[in-house]
Amino acid sequence: MKSILVTGGAGFIGSNFIKYVLGNTGHSVVNYDVLTYAGNLENLVDVEFNDRYKFVKGDICDKDAVTEAVDENGIDTIINFAAESHVDRSILGAEEFINTNVMGTLVLLQVLKEKGLSKYLQVSTDEVYGSLPEDKPELKFTESTPITTNSPYSASKASADLLCNSFRHTFGLPILITRCSNNYGPYQFPEKLIPLMIAKALNGEDLPVYGDGKNVRDWLYVDDHCSAIMTVLDKGKDGDVYNIGGNNEWYNIDIVKLILKKLGKGEDMIRYVKDRPGHDRRYAIDSSKIMNELGWTPAHNFEDGIELTINWYVENKNWWKKVMSGEYKNYFEQNYGSKMS
Ligand SMILES: NC(=O)c1ccc[n+]([C@@H]2O[C@H](COP(=O)([O-])OP(=O)(O)OC[C@H]3O[C@@H](n4cnc5c(N)ncnc54)[C@H](O)[C@@H]3O)[C@@H](O)[C@H]2O)c1
Repeated sequence: MKSILVTGGAGFIGSNFIKYVLGNTGHSVVNYDVLTYAGNLENLVDVEFNDRYKFVKGDICDKDAVTEAVDENGIDTIINFAAESHVDRSILGAEEFINTNVMGTLVLLQVLKEKGLSKYLQVSTDEVYGSLPEDKPELKFTESTPITTNSPYSASKASADLLCNSFRHTFGLPILITRCSNNYGPYQFPEKLIPLMIAKALNGEDLPVYGDGKNVRDWLYVDDHCSAIMTVLDKGKDGDVYNIGGNNEWYNIDIVKLILKKLGKGEDMIRYVKDRPGHDRRYAIDSSKIMNELGWTPAHNFEDGIELTINWYVENKNWWKKVMSGEYKNYFEQNYGSKMS
């Protein structure tokens, strides 16, 4: 059994991943997270007392703290989810993106090397491949598509991937990279398209849509991203990159209309707003490598996944209302404050 340091485990995908690992494997997990605005320990209340789960508050940029977490918990594997992840925020200010996404990754790679750990998996994104033309639907990102970064976010993620490649090449370390398309599902911070639109619609507020709404994204249910990461961890070839996607392209505006329809609301709630600067037009992932070489397939089609997701936000208003009001930040102090030195 592995002892895995999951960095960024209090965020959207990391918290879903921890529950996936605890539910589907016998591995132990240390959730190492500094708890930025995107980190929410309430995502993990149902596993808080699981014997194979532990939370450690720490920054991936702090090498001593990462080393201590690795030593104290007999860690043999690192999976790095920790990141600043919102493109809009990277446009407002790139520094934190470079600190966490690049310098933080460097620290983790240094610890991997110094401690001789058995595996490192970098959770990257399809955004490192830039944007695809709309008039060539046959074109998709493959693992050999050149890196072309258009936002400070994607530039920081691509830089981290290049660092991973260099540590693999120079030191022969056991490093894997996954590049996934847009995720959706429970516990996603309501600044991202799908939860934001659901929350606004449920609150009776206008739904802001960038530009003409014709940007295309390839959507994957978060549990399928988790199963893909576990598949790559178990069967992936060291040094390789694996694309992960749902073969499920949607115009943003059509997603928004679908959400409104499912919630029984009218399209008059849609409000077009000035486009994001440099907004990538189309992302589409070719996942044939992970499917053919490692035998992974997504378990959810979009119809089921979006239904599950909308129902979750309808049934868990308390969760996203607390996030939107900032109240979720008290959870750490209330539940961990007295237990930490
Ligand atoms: N959301 C998507 O659609 C998507 C798609 C492909 C890849 N990814 C990648 O997956 C990873 C997770 O994405 P997400 O949507 O769950 O992000 P998120 O923003 O919801 O969560 C990020 C987590 O990282 C933590 N964190 C940030 N800086 C840290 C630091 N310096 N030290 C320790 N922890 C820190 C935050 O507290 C938070 O819990 C990211 O690396 C992202 O680039 C996301």
